[in-house]
Amino acid sequence: AIDIAKLRDLTGYVTLDTGYKNTGATKSAITFLDGEQGILRYRGYPIEQLASKASFLEVSYLLIYGELPTTSQLENFKERIRKHTNLHEDIKKVFDGFPSSAHPMGVLSSAVSSLTAYYPGSIDPTANDDEVDMTIVRLMAKLPTIAAWSYRNSKGQPLMYPKPKLGYCENFLYMMFGQPNEDFELDPVVVEALNTLFILHADHEQNCSTSTVRIVGSAHASLYSSIAAGINALWGPLHGGANQEVIEMLEEIKASGISTKDYIAKVKTKEVRLMGFGHRVYKNFDPRAKIIKKACDDILNKLGVKDPALEIAKELEQAALSDPYFVERKLYPNVDFYSGIIYKALGLRSDLFTVMFAIGRLPGWIAQWKELRDAKEPIGRPRQIYTGYTERDYVSIDKRK
Ligand code: ACO
Repeated sequence: AIDIAKLRDLTGYVTLDTGYKNTGATKSAITFLDGEQGILRYRGYPIEQLASKASFLEVSYLLIYGELPTTSQLENFKERIRKHTNLHEDIKKVFDGFPSSAHPMGVLSSAVSSLTAYYPGSIDPTANDDEVDMTIVRLMAKLPTIAAWSYRNSKGQPLMYPKPKLGYCENFLYMMFGQPNEDFELDPVVVEALNTLFILHADHEQNCSTSTVRIVGSAHASLYSSIAAGINALWGPLHGGANQEVIEMLEEIKASGISTKDYIAKVKTKEVRLMGFGHRVYKNFDPRAKIIKKACDDILNKLGVKDPALEIAKELEQAALSDPYFVERKLYPNVDFYSGIIYKALGLRSDLFTVMFAIGRLPGWIAQWKELRDAKEPIGRPRQIYTGYTERDYVSIDKRK
């Protein structure tokens, strides 16, 4: 048993909250989340309204600058982004340095880190607000290009340079799936689906990757370094990496022929986790999952795609929602449960799903980094409760057993 009195003598009074389950790390005016009631709002606007009415760049502006843009503010923002979508030619060498089997999340974070070399002003903590804003716009502009180029590179296909006159989502799809000297037809259903998914992922207060961005940023590390760290945190299968895990789980269930009932039984004996289920904060339906589930049905219908993964997902959800194991633990589908099925229907490879999440989450990470900088928050430095040896004498190597 831990001797609390002794520990206090050694460490002073420290709050121990592993996993930060109940520790507020900051004050924030960006995103409101009520996990008990399943409410999510960006800067006060309900996610349901933004997802059905706004464009991703409008929402990005809202998150980063605090208000919905006027027409001219939005045009100006778009124009600045359009100007910076190209990458420095030398960044191609970053992609070339990876084997084609590299996971695109590793390539993404490395390429974002490499931006510090091409834009050295970005590492200056004394940069003024306009310079910081330039760094922000560059990153918003370049992340989709980085993601698309890493995909093309992994397939050995020629890189597609951005087409500035296209919109943000359209341009990304063009760079991913277009071919040189060929017309590229954009399907409005696909563009709309991507826009909605990006909005739904745009921010989610102090989750693992966002807290990572903030803590790295609190050391006055550059925006690019902080976001690269966030991308790495997002990659984890308990966080954004779950969207890839979900589709792989559904495909495995189909391939093995196991019934959903038997799979749920394996989850309950803790042999496997039901990926895409459960959330640290939501103890009710994740409002994003509700929107995505409906979007998933609509999009697959519109695209005429029949995916057995969707049927399996629905069966799992049905079985889980009426099972005491899930009910008692308040485990509901989260944002990742249905998103992968949509990405797959849009023609994306499963290792790109978390990359999609990162592009969507970028404005949220930027807004949180900017908020921390504007508030001049102190460096993040948690304490610990030390449980090792108190003190002992060095033993020379010939005397060790
Ligand atoms: N499948 C089966 N059981 C689960 C699941 C799950 N997906 N999630 C939680 N549980 C169980 C745990 O085993 C635990 O049971 P116990 O009390 O008998 O030990 C209980 O529910 C509480 O779970 P914790 O892991 O303590 O909950 P925590 O808040 O730490 O974890 C997390 C949240 C990581 C999201 C978890 O639910 C999980 O691993 N889900 C699957 C991965 C996933 O979908 N991640 C995406 C989250 S959303 C996002 O990051 C974008």
